[in-house]
Amino acid sequence: MLGDLLSNRDTSGHIVTGGTEANLLAMWTAKKLSKKKNCEIIVPTSAHCSFDKAADLLGIKLCKARLNSRYQVDVADVKRRLNTKTVGIVGVAGTTSLGVVDPIEELSELAVKNELYLHVDAAFGGFVLPFMRELGYKTANFDFILPGVCSVTVDPHKMGLAPIPAGGILFRSEKLKRVAAWNISYLSGGETEQATIVGTRSGASVIAAWAVMKHLGREGYVKVIKRCMRLTLKLAKEIPKISGMSIVAEPSMNVLGLKSDRFAVNKIARELRRKGWAISLFPSHIRIVVMPHVHEDHVERFLGDLEQISTRLRGA
Ligand SMILES: Cc1ncc(COP(=O)(O)O)c(C=O)c1O
Repeated sequence: MLGDLLSNRDTSGHIVTGGTEANLLAMWTAKKLSKKKNCEIIVPTSAHCSFDKAADLLGIKLCKARLNSRYQVDVADVKRRLNTKTVGIVGVAGTTSLGVVDPIEELSELAVKNELYLHVDAAFGGFVLPFMRELGYKTANFDFILPGVCSVTVDPHKMGLAPIPAGGILFRSEKLKRVAAWNISYLSGGETEQATIVGTRSGASVIAAWAVMKHLGREGYVKVIKRCMRLTLKLAKEIPKISGMSIVAEPSMNVLGLKSDRFAVNKIARELRRKGWAISLFPSHIRIVVMPHVHEDHVERFLGDLEQISTRLRGA
């Protein structure tokens, strides 16, 4: 059944309200395809909370696979969690907390072997990884080039630089896209289908996302990613030189984790926010996302402020 829907690679999708709706649509499609009443989907513990919301809404049991030492999903643990109720697997290409890319190639092999739906959440990384590759960075495959990938979330309103709201969901084939479609009998003599969760919606986000992509083009995105990565790598090199500060892992994209074995991260976060820095706080680290509006002087000022915070927290 799944094989038929994957054989054609006539990729097709929707602009939706955001990554949350895109991930919900993918989970809905996986559930509808399986026709199982009690179904389970395996996600990495690093998956975005939109999967918890989707599972709750759809009555799916979410099984959380642990991470390996590089913060990627541990494929052996995914394998261990497979059972007769499993209908799908999720991999992330650019995790919310660290920008890590799961081993999607291995997940694809697993999905093909077990006839499971594989969804890739590239909400953030989808507009980063292809351009990193053009710049010569070694990046792993995460998209429809892999035979098991059924759908991919890729949000124009994140690194695609389109105005909010513009999430994106791509299905491997037109047929797969229509699995969760509903016939709307009262419109166009009953020929209208809606395959998104919301009904009537604005076409403005589609036009805006299209206009930004046309304006930037491939070269525009490559230029943006080039600077984001240069500044991310600079932060990754300079932060550990500051007393008490370190990074969680070498960055896979323009997301960096700042940690400390000397100071409480919430104290560092409070000080950084007091100085006007919009950083995110996770249980054991601070996330720094180097977005396209960030310039060299911001990075210099950030490092200076972090140095001051270190001095202050040391009571020096
Ligand atoms: C990996 C990932 N997926 C999904 C989402 C949800 O996206 P949205 O806030 O557009 O619904 C996020 C949000 O940060 C995310 O990082």
